[in-house]
Amino acid sequence: MHTRHRHILGKHRLKHSPRPPPAVTVTRLRPGLSSIAQPGQEKQTAHPDPQGQEGPRLSPDTAVPPCIVPRRQHGDGGNSQPSSSSRRRQRGRSGRPEPATGTDPRGTAVASAAASLTCRSLETSAIACAIQILLRATGIGQPLEFSFSFPARDNLIHLSNPHLEKMKDDILYHFALGTGTHDFPALFGDVKFVCVGGSPSRMKAFITYIAEELGLGSVGADYPNICAGTDRYAMYKVGPVLSVSHGMGIPSIAIMLHELIKLLYHSKCSNVTIIRIGTSGGIGLEPGSVVITSQSVDATFKPQFEQVILGKTVIRSTNLDDQLAKELMQCSKEINEFNTVIGNTMCTLDFYEGQARLDGAICLYAEEEKLQYLKAAYDAGVRNIEMESSVFAAICNLSGVRAAVVCVTLLNRLEGDQISSSHDVLVEYQQRPQKLVGHFIKKCLGKV
Ligand code: URA
Repeated sequence: MHTRHRHILGKHRLKHSPRPPPAVTVTRLRPGLSSIAQPGQEKQTAHPDPQGQEGPRLSPDTAVPPCIVPRRQHGDGGNSQPSSSSRRRQRGRSGRPEPATGTDPRGTAVASAAASLTCRSLETSAIACAIQILLRATGIGQPLEFSFSFPARDNLIHLSNPHLEKMKDDILYHFALGTGTHDFPALFGDVKFVCVGGSPSRMKAFITYIAEELGLGSVGADYPNICAGTDRYAMYKVGPVLSVSHGMGIPSIAIMLHELIKLLYHSKCSNVTIIRIGTSGGIGLEPGSVVITSQSVDATFKPQFEQVILGKTVIRSTNLDDQLAKELMQCSKEINEFNTVIGNTMCTLDFYEGQARLDGAICLYAEEEKLQYLKAAYDAGVRNIEMESSVFAAICNLSGVRAAVVCVTLLNRLEGDQISSSHDVLVEYQQRPQKLVGHFIKKCLGKV
């Protein structure tokens, strides 16, 4: 391990602290129903329905309440109200879980729903059971599993994994950190804001910037990489802010987020906000515009993240916190330095064909088809395209963490595919999400 790193973490090593009471996870699948696409049978995909999409709310006129929304604590007698986003997450954006449709191998319409509920009380367990019964009674014609979460009524991190409770120690391999070797509460217990972004150097630049903004850094200070024991991800911390790189694409950010959520849980963090700050391709926006994601949609414009787990396709909600998006929008208005919109973000599996580019090594479609697709995306409320937001939203949803995605657009995809702005221009663009989120954090901490 890096000498400097060992020095920084040294005093927090090998102090093992007891874990919080276990969260009980209830997962029920409708018995006997398979959602696995059979050989030779394509899973049907619902046609994108732009009309059904909520378009971007480009100029929210609602007054923005204070940054840190008071949230329920354990034992508050259940008097406080869940936030609107919590209620929305419980219902699904359309007021119910959004299922996908298709047929089973016998050609028969089947229903399958999976409710993954993280319960911390008998009350939530009872609700979970009621939902299971309801799903069984009503879930006709839905062959895919729909997995959704119920944020518990507290501000803690939730792990939807009962197996972890049985483990004596937990090694976060890709961070080169472990509960048996590091005192997580001492190292990270005060974290309130986590900013994640693709590149290690950008996340280091962000921690340097935020340290100065919060008056926590000295000029020229160097911030050590907490994950110096590995070159997979880089992590920096100053005060209540953690800055972590996630690499490119869904698999890379998903691995990082599994370990990040566990890190926050083991550290007993509360009231954490996670924000992805990144770059993207814009649709119909001047380059350099910032998009605060309303919903992350897939390449067919559906607000969902699909993953095959145990051979079955599981669909997870990609809702993000509306209130947080509005607060960030308000921050952008206060800074008043660059164009910012709230809009849908399309998350793709690839930078080239996946984003309808004409300049990859392979492209078997015509320019008109490309433009038709991007215009359909625009009509579905999509204002930018990137490669991480869907799984980011899904994992934060399931972990009960309020989350946002703030990305700058490097180009207008209706006008081209190549990112041809000068280095200096691109560097300045990349600082915009950092500035916006920096302002937000300062505001939350009463430093504006
Ligand atoms: N990142 C993307 O995923 N796409 C772009 O066009 C630019 C940045």
